[in-house]
Amino acid sequence: MNKIIPINFGWKFKADFCDDYLYEENFKDFQNIDIPHTVKILPINYINISDFQKVSTYCYKLDKIALSSNEIALLRFEGVANYCEIYCNAHLAGSHKGAYTSFEIDISPYLNNDCNFITIKVDSTERKDIPPFGGVIDYLVYGGIYREVSLIIASKSRIKNYFITSDIDTNKFHFEIELTEIIPNGIIDITVSDSYNIFKSCEKADKIIIEAEILINDYIIWNIDNPFLYDVSIIYKAENILDTKTCKTGFRKINFTSDGFYLNGIKLKLLGLNRHQSYAYIGYAATKRLQESDAVFLKNFLGVNCVRTSHYPQSIHFLNKCDEIGLLVLEEIPGWQHIGDDSWQELSIKNVQDMIERDYNHPSIIMWGIRINESIDNDVFYTKTNNLAHSLDSSRPTFGVRYLAKSNPIEDVYTYNDFIHRGNNEALNNPDNITSNTIPYMITEHNGHMYPTKSFDAASKCLEHSLRHTRVIDKMMSSNRIGGCIGWCMSDYNTHYDFGSGDGVCYHGISDIFRRPKLAAYVYASQYNKNIILEVSTDMNTGDYDAGEIGNIYAFTNCDFVRLYKNNEFVRDFYPISSPFKSMPHPPIVIDDLIGTLIEKNEQFSVRDAKIVKNILLSIIRKGWKLTVFEKLKMFFVMKKYKMSMQKATELYGKYIGNWGKENIEYKFQGFINDKCVAEKITNKIYKPTFKVEFDSKSLIEKDTYDMTGIYVTALDEYGNKLHYANNIVTLSVDDSLEILCDSSMAMRGGVAGFYVKTTGKGDQTKISLTVQNIGSFSDIIEINNSNSQRTKSN
Ligand code: GAL
Repeated sequence: MNKIIPINFGWKFKADFCDDYLYEENFKDFQNIDIPHTVKILPINYINISDFQKVSTYCYKLDKIALSSNEIALLRFEGVANYCEIYCNAHLAGSHKGAYTSFEIDISPYLNNDCNFITIKVDSTERKDIPPFGGVIDYLVYGGIYREVSLIIASKSRIKNYFITSDIDTNKFHFEIELTEIIPNGIIDITVSDSYNIFKSCEKADKIIIEAEILINDYIIWNIDNPFLYDVSIIYKAENILDTKTCKTGFRKINFTSDGFYLNGIKLKLLGLNRHQSYAYIGYAATKRLQESDAVFLKNFLGVNCVRTSHYPQSIHFLNKCDEIGLLVLEEIPGWQHIGDDSWQELSIKNVQDMIERDYNHPSIIMWGIRINESIDNDVFYTKTNNLAHSLDSSRPTFGVRYLAKSNPIEDVYTYNDFIHRGNNEALNNPDNITSNTIPYMITEHNGHMYPTKSFDAASKCLEHSLRHTRVIDKMMSSNRIGGCIGWCMSDYNTHYDFGSGDGVCYHGISDIFRRPKLAAYVYASQYNKNIILEVSTDMNTGDYDAGEIGNIYAFTNCDFVRLYKNNEFVRDFYPISSPFKSMPHPPIVIDDLIGTLIEKNEQFSVRDAKIVKNILLSIIRKGWKLTVFEKLKMFFVMKKYKMSMQKATELYGKYIGNWGKENIEYKFQGFINDKCVAEKITNKIYKPTFKVEFDSKSLIEKDTYDMTGIYVTALDEYGNKLHYANNIVTLSVDDSLEILCDSSMAMRGGVAGFYVKTTGKGDQTKISLTVQNIGSFSDIIEINNSNSQRTKSN
C-alpha cells in the first residue's frame, strides 16, 4: 500500500556546504530545525541580501526503509529555493531547479539496509539559469526548504497524475488518470461524494491514461458565494498495489469573452489584488495557517473575488483555502521581465507543465499565466507555453501579463498592467489602444509603484492612495470591455534595493507587511464584503494637513448613508448618490460639509445668510483661503450687513473649521443601513492610547509540521482609531512551548508591531505576555494540540 509520510521535524541545517556534509559524522555543529525553514531570519527592512543568498546544507536521518521488489521510495518536496541536489547515503539521487514547483526524487537505488542519510545542498543564490532570475527582479526569493517534505513509499506502478474536469452542460465529472506503468488486472475505483450522495465508477487500468466519467445528479455548483466542494477519491488496485489519491473539487464553468468574465454563465466583474507569498522576518517559510490567513484576509475582509499569484505558483494550502472560500485565482509561472536563453526557456516551459499538473483540480483557478510577467514578445517561446497549457488543460483560458500595448496576442486573455493613472488624468487606458476589441481583456496590475504609500504616511497621502485605487476600480466597473482589475498589491513586501523606498521595502500594499489594512484597504473592503464596513478617511487632525486644510472627507462604506454629528449636534446625512464614482457597488461617500445647519441654528444670521457663510467656510476647507471674487463679495456683504469685524469672521472660521485651541470637538460618523445605525466612528482628542492584539489563531495544532501564528499589536485611541504614528516598543515573551521567529522586541511602524511564533512540541498551553511601551501590558493563553504531531525526533 502506498504511504505518504511527512518528514518535516528533526532536520539539521548549516548555512554553508562542503562535500564532507554528505556523511553523518560531519553533522556535528549543525542546527536543529523544522521544515518549513528559511535560511535566515531577517530584519523587517534594510535586509542584507547576502545573509540568505548562499549555499547551505540540510540533513535528515531516515530510518530503515524496507521496500518490496515492486516498490520505490521517493522524497517529495513542495518547494525549495532555488536549486537543490539531493544526496542519499552520499550518492547524488537527483536535483531540481526552481523555487516554486513541487518535485519527487527517487532515492531507492541508494538506500542502505540500515538507516539512511539524506543531505540536501540548497543553493539560494539568484542563479541566472533559473527563472525568474537573469535580470533584476522586484521581489526577494528567500532561500531554503521553505515548503513541506514527505517520504513516499509507492509501487512502481502508481497514479502519476489525475485531472478532474467538470461539465455543467452534461452534469458530468470527467477524469483522466495517468499511471506510471501498467501491470495486469489493475482497476481504478473512483468515488465522488458530498454529505448525502455517493457516485462511483470502476475502470480497467489497462492503459497508461484511463478516462472515466461520472454523472452527478442534481449537482451543486461551485461559485464564489457557495463554494461547494465534492470529495473525490481515486483508488488504483492491482496485485500488491493500493494507491489512493484524494482531493476536493467543484462543479463550475468559466468563460472569458471580449465583454468580460463569466462564472457559470453569469457575468462577474473581477476585482482582486496581487499577492506575494512573502512575510516579514520568515520570508517564504510560512506554514499552512499563514497561507490560509492570506486567502481569508483577501476574501472575507477585503471582499475581493480574485487574486493573482504574482509572480509564481503559490502554496497548495493557499489554493486549497481559495477553493474552500470561493476566491478565484489567476496562477502564473515564475518570471519577471527577463527571458533567458534556450535552456532557461525549457525550464520555464517545464514550469507550465509542473504548475498545471500540480494545480489542475482546484476549482478556484480560472486561468493559467503562461508568459513571463511583463516580458517583451517572444512568439516562438510563448507559442510553446501556450500550446502546452492548452494541451494539458482545454477547460481554462490562458493569460499573459504585459506592460506593452499591441503586443502579439497569443494567449486567450490579454492581461495588461495599466499604470497610466497619476492622480489627475485618466484612470485606465482605453482598451482599444492596448489590443484588438475582439480579445478578452483585463487589468492585472494598477497603482503600485505609481504611488507608494506607507501606513505611517500623512493622512492626505493615504487618502490619495485610496482614491487612486477607487478611480481605477470605478473606471473598470463602468466598462463593458474590461473584465476586471487586480490591484498592485495586497501587502507591502521586501525587495531589492533597485526598487522600494530605499529600505528594501515596496510600500505598494493596501495593507502593511503584517496584512494590517491601510486606508486603501477599505476601498476594496467596502465593495463586496458581507460585513459592515465604515472607514472614514481622516481622524480630523488638522495639524496633519498642509495649511491645516482637511479637504473633502471620504467614507469607505457599504452603508446606505452616513450621518455626521459634531459635539453630538446633528450636522447632515451624506449619500452615495452624490459620489463622483458612479459605477462601483458602493461608491465612497463624500463628506464635504462639516457645518450642515449648525450656523443656522447657532448664529444670528438669517437662513439665507447662514448658507452664504457656510458655503464660504466650506470653500476655505476645500481650497484654502483662495476665494473667488464672487465669494469675497458675498463675504463682504454679510460682514457689512451684520457689522462683523474681521476678528469675528476669523472666530467663525476657528469655531466651524479650524477648531484650534477650542474645547474638545467630537465628530461622530454613523453608518446607516435600512435606517438603522450599524457602525460608528468617533474622533476626538486622545487622552488614553490603548492597543489591540490579534492572532491568526489562538488554537494551534501540530500535525505534519509545526503550527504558527502571527501576533499583531495595533495602537489605538480610546475610540478604536489606529494611532498611525505610534512607534512604541512592543516586547513579547512566551514560554518554551513557543519559539519567537524574530526579535522579541520591536518598535511599532505605523502603529503596528508584528511577531511570528511557532510551536516547539513542548506543552499544550502557553501564556504569552507583551508590553507596549508607555501604554500597557497584555497576556493571553494559546492552546496547542500536539496529539497528532508527527514530531517523533527530538530536535
Ligand atoms: C510591475 C511588476 C510588479 C511590481 C509592480 C510595482 O511592473 O509587475 O512586480 O514591481 O510593477 O508597481
